[in-house]
Amino acid sequence: MENLLKIVKERKSVRTYDGKPLSDEHRKAIEDFICTIDDPFDIPVKFVLLDQEKYGLSSPVLSGEKLYVAGKVEKKPCADVAFGYAFEKLVLYAQSLGIGTVWIGGTMKRELFENAAGLGENEMMPCMSPLGYPAEKKSLKETMMRKGIRADSRISMDKLFFADEWGHALTPSDDMADILEMVRWAPSAVNKQPWRIIFKDGIYHFYEKKDKGYVNDATGDLQKIDVGIALCHFVMGCESKGKKTEIRTEDPGIKIPADAEYIVSVSVQN
Ligand SMILES: Cc1cc2nc3c(=O)[nH]c(=O)nc-3n(C[C@H](O)[C@H](O)[C@H](O)COP(=O)(O)O)c2cc1C
Repeated sequence: MENLLKIVKERKSVRTYDGKPLSDEHRKAIEDFICTIDDPFDIPVKFVLLDQEKYGLSSPVLSGEKLYVAGKVEKKPCADVAFGYAFEKLVLYAQSLGIGTVWIGGTMKRELFENAAGLGENEMMPCMSPLGYPAEKKSLKETMMRKGIRADSRISMDKLFFADEWGHALTPSDDMADILEMVRWAPSAVNKQPWRIIFKDGIYHFYEKKDKGYVNDATGDLQKIDVGIALCHFVMGCESKGKKTEIRTEDPGIKIPADAEYIVSVSVQN
């Protein structure tokens, strides 16, 4: 994907669509891309395209959409993080083609989507997204919603990315600053941005800073999905700068607040 930082910054949730189906070319590109998506935990995420009219699907926050993509994953440790990582790859690819998306984990008739997606035993379908072209003008509902959750702003770098210990702001090198900026602009449930990173001894350690009310059986932990999305932006950001990454899962044992949880670490080579 060319100019990842631009793609990341231009992506915004789209809830108002123009009512047109995807072009045949775009639909094929999406179908082909889905087959290539992997994640660092090797937990397969299955993507299913769902026709809006065929299944009578809808969401109270959306209008004008004709097609959705739902993701299914086996319920197991790290499935939510893997889901966030894999689904966000598709979101960024769609953005690179000019196709609008929005992560939807709550505001949908969940049972209808799960039935249409053919949810199997021990699987969950945490989120879906429409795939379509943005309408020229946002619905009033969408505009109000964006204001309510301050969707156009993000927490500042110094409160998200730390050096050596929790709360001690990191001063990144120029190329890492770009990559962390990509992480900062990732989408998250209710725009909570629950990811934190501590850079220590050459390794980036990812944590979830938990809020209440984001865990349930149907979705897993939505904020772990958010951390998976942040991890996707980080790893793709490193790749876009020609840096190799290696995923590690040993908790470095750094002291963290009671409402935080260690998730994963990444070592980065130039
Ligand atoms: C895991 C997840 C679940 C989300 N669920 C919903 C949802 O149910 N309804 C909705 O309107 N937006 C949902 N969103 C979209 C967020 O509200 C949006 O990404 C955030 O406010 C930032 O805005 P932006 O995507 O335009 O940058 C979800 C986002 C994520 C990452």
